[in-house]
Amino acid sequence: MKKYLAPSILNADFSNIAQQIRYVELGGADWIHCDIMDGNFVPNLTFGPYVVNAIKKSTKLIVDSHLMINNPDSLIENFVEAGSDFITVHQEAVIHLDRTLNRIKEFGVKAGVSINPSTPVNLLFEVLEIVDLVLVMSVNPGFGGQKFLLNSLKKIHQLDSFRKENNLNYLIQVDGGINKENIKSVSDAGCDVFVVGQSIFKSDNITASTIELKNLIS
Ligand code: DX5
Ligand code: ZN
Repeated sequence: MKKYLAPSILNADFSNIAQQIRYVELGGADWIHCDIMDGNFVPNLTFGPYVVNAIKKSTKLIVDSHLMINNPDSLIENFVEAGSDFITVHQEAVIHLDRTLNRIKEFGVKAGVSINPSTPVNLLFEVLEIVDLVLVMSVNPGFGGQKFLLNSLKKIHQLDSFRKENNLNYLIQVDGGINKENIKSVSDAGCDVFVVGQSIFKSDNITASTIELKNLIS
């Protein structure tokens, strides 16, 4: 199965975001991961659909919107119009998850669901047939640069086994604390889409780090 690298721009230099995106494009990045935080579901605040739209205009890569917001339903249409190719909501932030995921799909956008480190995979079993992507948070969401939590490896395995046993084809994405030391073990566990923030954007050479990480999963 193909593996994709999705740099998270959370810790990129926003004073020149188009150039930062160009650097990861040159390194072979596949997706641009946008971390949307509302200061409520998570203790941090980032950006919304206008910025996602600006990013969409500056790249041909897949634009991946990770909504760490409560009640995402009211903003889904805005993130669709902004040009998101994937929209991922948190299981913990949505009451009628089946309805929300179907709504995203009805807009013709790929639908993802995410779980925090403390949420077990089995809470997703009833929606795994309809999702395009499952995002395993390997840190407690809110900030870049945190340590990878090892219990996520077990969850990636569970999702990979469930996918095989049930003949499903959702992508497994992992987000938080991924670096060049641990990316191979995340890949071996069954991850398809690797979100990497600080290990790319806080490195000395963004393009070189992107190339290095991409080579480790190819
Ligand atoms: C955490 C975000 C992540 C984060 C990843 O809440 O969802 O996307 O920016 O950054 P690193 O790779 O620095 O953990
Ligand atoms: Zn994220």
